[in-house]
Amino acid sequence: MAQCKVDVWQDEFPPSYEVLSEHARGVDGLLCMLTDRIDGALMDAAGTNLKVISQMAVGYDNIDVSAAHQRGIMVGNTPGVLTETTADLAFALLLSAARRLSEGARYIQEGKWRTWHPTTLLGHDVTEATLGIIGLGRIGTAVAKRATAFDMRLLACGPRLSDEEVAQAGVERVELDDLLQQSDFVSLHCPLLPETRHLINRTTLSRMKPSAILINTTRGGVVDQAALYEALVGGVIAGAALDVTDPEPLPANDPLLQLPNVLVVPHVGSATIGTRGKMAQIAIDNLLAGLHGQPLPHAVR
Ligand code: DGY
Repeated sequence: MAQCKVDVWQDEFPPSYEVLSEHARGVDGLLCMLTDRIDGALMDAAGTNLKVISQMAVGYDNIDVSAAHQRGIMVGNTPGVLTETTADLAFALLLSAARRLSEGARYIQEGKWRTWHPTTLLGHDVTEATLGIIGLGRIGTAVAKRATAFDMRLLACGPRLSDEEVAQAGVERVELDDLLQQSDFVSLHCPLLPETRHLINRTTLSRMKPSAILINTTRGGVVDQAALYEALVGGVIAGAALDVTDPEPLPANDPLLQLPNVLVVPHVGSATIGTRGKMAQIAIDNLLAGLHGQPLPHAVR
């Protein structure tokens, strides 16, 4: 039985801010994607009926949550169901970058492979290497679990790491600088917040090993991409594998895409059939709960 009247955006591209504001006028609930900017002005354009904003993602840096709460609007997200899928992708990126898989594939496609040679496309060992995890939340912890099977030494940092989380994940808690200096691989799992924007910048990159590889599956804004480009060209670090960039999509002529030691994929961390289905279901459950004035199953606080 239909529970509400729905206006579904059908286009492949997200609506512009103006068009979304127009469509939002008078609605009771909004189910949005990470590509939609939802700020106080948009909430005001929607009007006083708006009770719930339900995001189909775990990250919600596109939503001004405090503006929503000030207006008595509940905000929901989709944590938990994408943890393993995103950790799989982070680890796939780590392995691909370590073993230079995209370079190898391109090498063959371009007809450059002429013979087996003992120094062709030498990569970096993963087994027993040191992995630094910045942000040991659900996904960071799931990445640690995968790394354990590779006998990796695990370092982690983050502002709110409890002793219990650290012990359960089998990681050593260290300061950011120590993590950067000691890690062979650095994987980013912190949310994008004002204090984590450009956390990876010229200074922090300069602390990393020249052989280190950076993996980003959180949000592009955590990395200063101009500084990353310089670091990759200048040999400050060895490589990067990015599921997320700033902006998204990255223009095809972006200098980062010209570098052989960079692998960029199109924000597909949670992109499996099963996981996207679960995310959609949670987003709907949050929306319906909010419309009925009930607490959201997964509320952002
Ligand atoms: C999220 O959920 O925040 C991911 O970036 C998209 O799945």
